[in-house]
Amino acid sequence: MSLFSRPAFRAALIAVLAAIATALVMALAANISERQEEAKTTNFNVVALTETTVDPAEWGKNFPRQYDAYQRTVETYSTRFGGAGSEGMPESRLKEDPRLVDIFAGYAFAIDFNKRRGHAFMLEDQRLTKRVTERPQSGACLHCHASSTVPYRAAGIDAGAPGTLEQPFESKEARQQLMLGFEALGKLPYTEATKAVKHPVSCIDCHDPNGLGLRVTKPGFLVGIAALAKSDEPTPHLPSIERWRKGDRAREYEPNLDASRQELRSMVCGQCHVEYYCGPKMTLTYPWAKGLKVEQIEATWNETKFSDGHRFYDWKHERTGAEVLKAQHPEFEMWSQGIHARSGVSCADCHMPYVREGALKVSSHHVRSPLLDVTRSCQTCHRFPEEELKRRVDIIQQRNLDLMNRAEDALVQLISAVETAKKNGATDEKLQPVFELQRKAQFRLDFVNAENSMGFHASQEAARILGESIDYSRQGELALLRP
Ligand code: HEC
Ligand code: HEC
Ligand code: HEC
Ligand code: HEC
Ligand code: HEC
Repeated sequence: MSLFSRPAFRAALIAVLAAIATALVMALAANISERQEEAKTTNFNVVALTETTVDPAEWGKNFPRQYDAYQRTVETYSTRFGGAGSEGMPESRLKEDPRLVDIFAGYAFAIDFNKRRGHAFMLEDQRLTKRVTERPQSGACLHCHASSTVPYRAAGIDAGAPGTLEQPFESKEARQQLMLGFEALGKLPYTEATKAVKHPVSCIDCHDPNGLGLRVTKPGFLVGIAALAKSDEPTPHLPSIERWRKGDRAREYEPNLDASRQELRSMVCGQCHVEYYCGPKMTLTYPWAKGLKVEQIEATWNETKFSDGHRFYDWKHERTGAEVLKAQHPEFEMWSQGIHARSGVSCADCHMPYVREGALKVSSHHVRSPLLDVTRSCQTCHRFPEEELKRRVDIIQQRNLDLMNRAEDALVQLISAVETAKKNGATDEKLQPVFELQRKAQFRLDFVNAENSMGFHASQEAARILGESIDYSRQGELALLRP
């Protein structure tokens, strides 16, 4: 009889194994409950956060993980098209592509225009750009380059708005403070207004200090999105707008009441990553009253009049004399036209992916290019190897670049052709239809060029827009050939 078949030994063995298993289960349970405790203490509650806590370091005492990652936006990086270069000051877009100097002739963008950097730099880069140091700018620039929510409310109270800063952001008084302060600070010269702010975008611009839910606080966005809601442009990617439209419309669309958490995960970014006008002649405006597509935005600008009755324009082109439009970083608008928005994928899904820390799932507050972390940003949904996903992005971006190069060449050629026609005696009156074509071609080209994903956020939409841009530039040249 072998040892193992002896009943007494078998019973002993089973008892020992059972004991080991029990110990393991208990250890695991202890570990789980420890992790659960840890998960519960994600909020350390060291300080009481209020509607006046602007300093992110204060929030960081309660939420060290998010604060640490937020601080890491000082790290510079570069991908093929993203980031600003790996060290020192941001790279110049003008040096990289001198055609932009011709395209922006006569505008501040022709003297200084750089690649974006991390959020930590937003205030510093604005204070230092030659567009600010060499040209007068208004306080409205600060709307998207600082934690401006509380300073706006404070300025609103100074200007006579009711209530106190301690009142919750959702209160009627707080909204009056915000809007009045937005106007008041926006009108000041930049050099004055900038003294009212201290920090780049901070926790309070995206979060409710009580309960920490997401919220939008930037006045330009609140006004712009309410105007979009009033239009009849379909917004399948923002279902709360379509729901609001079907209701009694007793009050305006209000993202902080109406939008879902998933929508807010994009809207918090749409507070700043959007097309806008911000200059001396009008308050900061998001041109969404007809919809978010390039031609709808163009139509909104075309119907807008300055207080002197003149049709809206951004600047007069130095070499042709056309009154043209400049587009700014329309990430929210482009994303809106893409397959990801259509599929319910938010900015935060790709740019703030979840990171596991112990038992915790934390949203990465190190906002940056998703290509630096494809595993967390993309592979949660796409079951392809990292290299393959990067390759797919690169193919989209390369195609976009090729078409954009053609559009830029076409526009630069149109500008030269107009210049020649003027030298040969063509009058501004005769050139008026060509100026219109330059305006259309310029706005479309810039809508893709100023957008920061090199076509990725909505590849077919970007191609459509560039195709139209090329067509308008060439139509302009043809018109010049006609006697
Ligand atoms: C499906 C994923 C995805 C979604 C959703 C998405 N992006 Fe992106 N975004 C990308 C990729 C990929 C790039 C290209 C990055 C690169 O070239 O390094 C990019 C580039 C950018 C850049 C330039 C980044 C850099 O490194 O210079 C900005 C800014 C940006 N996105 C903002 C947004 C905003 C705002 C939204 C929402 C309105 C959004 N993105 C939605 C994937 C996404
Ligand atoms: C609606 C929000 C918004 C307003 C208003 C705004 N910016 Fe920006 N700005 C951004 C965003 C988003 C970026 C990053 C994306 C990019 O660089 O395209 C940026 C980037 C920049 C940069 C770095 C890249 C570059 O262009 O050289 C500078 C400098 C800058 N802005 C200056 C200004 C000035 C000056 C004003 C006022 C005339 C202004 N901004 C108003 C949102 C805004
Ligand atoms: C530009 C907007 C933005 C800013 C600024 C911001 N957050 Fe967040 N935060 C988000 C988003 C988006 C989420 C995901 C929320 C969700 O899905 O419900 C989030 C989630 C969180 C959460 C919930 C847990 C998690 O990680 O998902 C905490 C805590 C948090 N943020 C703390 C902070 C702190 C502290 C700061 C300032 C240092 C800060 N946030 C700044 C956008 C922002
Ligand atoms: C308060 C306005 C504001 C908000 C809100 C905001 N951004 Fe930005 N973002 C900027 C500005 C301004 C810059 C450029 C800073 C610079 O170049 O100095 C920038 C830069 C970036 C970059 C380039 C980073 C790099 O290192 O090159 C990415 C990516 C980005 N933002 C994505 C997002 C996403 C995603 C959200 C929402 C979770 C968001 N941003 C919310 C204003 C904002
Ligand atoms: C939350 C889920 C989700 C995330 C995160 C996500 N995607 Fe997608 N992606 C989709 C869906 C859904 C589609 C639409 C096609 C489909 O239904 O399969 C799509 C489509 C695409 C396409 C085809 C685009 C086209 O124009 O036809 C590419 C390429 C792509 N994703 C790349 C990426 C990359 C790169 C990332 C990370 C930066 C990413 N996706 C992140 C869900 C996601």
